[in-house]
Amino acid sequence: MKKHIVLYKALQPDVLALLQEHFEVAEFDGLGAATQPDFLAALERAQGLIGMYGRVDAAFIARAPRLEALSTVSVGYDAIDLDALNARGIMLTNTPDVLTETTADTAFLLILGVARRVAELARWLQEGHWQRQVGAAQYGVDVHGKTLGIVGMGRIGNAVARRAALGFGMRVLYTARSTKPEAEREFGAQRRELDELLRQSDFVCVLTPLTAQTRHLIGARELALMQPAAFLVNAARGAIVDERALIAALQQRQIAGAGLDVFEQEPLSPQSPLLAMPNVLALPHIGSATRETRHAMELCAAHNLIDALAGRRPRYLVNPQTFRAP
Ligand code: 8YV
Repeated sequence: MKKHIVLYKALQPDVLALLQEHFEVAEFDGLGAATQPDFLAALERAQGLIGMYGRVDAAFIARAPRLEALSTVSVGYDAIDLDALNARGIMLTNTPDVLTETTADTAFLLILGVARRVAELARWLQEGHWQRQVGAAQYGVDVHGKTLGIVGMGRIGNAVARRAALGFGMRVLYTARSTKPEAEREFGAQRRELDELLRQSDFVCVLTPLTAQTRHLIGARELALMQPAAFLVNAARGAIVDERALIAALQQRQIAGAGLDVFEQEPLSPQSPLLAMPNVLALPHIGSATRETRHAMELCAAHNLIDALAGRRPRYLVNPQTFRAP
């Protein structure tokens, strides 16, 4: 008999078909429906869950008494209560690797975008201001040859460092719990304490996962350490940066601008002061959102779930202690 799963994010047809080959699939488009009777009934039957976006908390997990595995279509799992899963021995799987290069591209587009004022000047053109050729009022700053500070030198940090050092001749600084000999050798990257990195960088790029330790890692004190000509880029999770402190720092011109793909509250309110600032390039969390990468993530998540529910150790298992071979 096929196992039951709940899908809480629409997936591409071939991935859905693959899941349907293996499981009885109850499909929902988002956790918005999570309090509806049909969702709750499906959750009660479910041995597996697969989806992305939205909070999976202890109360939600408690409504899935037969759950064996949760497969998130993302690398980050800060929105999922891992302790609640661990307490019940439920496997959590994620999708690293396949999104590394695409997310690094997004981080780099934010770096280039803030430096060259891309959104602001595109809007300026659309609004009919291009009456004569640009002058000093429209100048940006160079990216090549500058110093990039990477906060969190994991897979994506490494891919950003490669672009920066080899593509743009940048000096790369990084923070990490341990030194990264390969990045030091290949990209000339140098490890620094966070304060020192903030002081020395022209671009500070946040790429660490969100955990209890990294929540509001960048607050008013840290922003004050940055140079007034420096830019902050966040392509990781909004809550790593204290958004109110960031807004204040931008308003007071303590830093030159910000490139943000992530926010403390998503979707970002259209009323956010960030959207009214010309020196802020804000994107709707598109880090991994390309056709190819989202397809690869969905496929990876589907295989993780298929393996987990078949008693095979999934390739990307976040909590290995929960795996028991049959
Ligand atoms: C997803 C991401 O778009 O994988 C991640 O952690 O940030 C993105 O790839 C997002 O998390 C959807 O849940």
